Amino acid sequence: MLADDVCLRRELIDPLKLKKIKKALHAFHTLETIAVNIYKFQITKVPSELNRQLIAAMCNEMTHLQDFQVKLYEYGFKPSIFRIAYCIVGFVFGFGSRLLGQKTILKIGIWVESKAVKHYAELLRNVEWDQQSRKMIEKDQADENGHISRWRNLLGRI
Ligand SMILES: [Fe+2]
Ligand SMILES: [Fe+2]
Repeated sequence: MLADDVCLRRELIDPLKLKKIKKALHAFHTLETIAVNIYKFQITKVPSELNRQLIAAMCNEMTHLQDFQVKLYEYGFKPSIFRIAYCIVGFVFGFGSRLLGQKTILKIGIWVESKAVKHYAELLRNVEWDQQSRKMIEKDQADENGHISRWRNLLGRI
């Protein structure tokens, strides 16, 4: 990300559309906070292919979190003060599935990512995004689809 990539968007948008954008960006930010923490707490120290892929997915979710955090500030909003609660939700799903083994880790991954893809589709459909933001959201949605195929593939191999 370059400094020139940051755009102050609040003045560029019809104030009537701001409320919808705020709600959507908070939803994305929450979703990504949960995702980062699920993967973070699913990773173990075992040098396995699953752990390698979980580290990659955690990193990918961190870039999504960065994307939406930047968007929030660009529009003059701030991340929710309750985000610590979403970190805990991620921890519960992540650590809980880790205790139940590899299959549960993958099944939770598929379930959460499928919910995310649906949520992305809904927010892409219902909000009038500027072109740059829409492109970014579509790219992140494609990443979530990539995670689903990766977990399905690994699930088929164990
Ligand atoms: Fe994500
Ligand atoms: Fe994902």
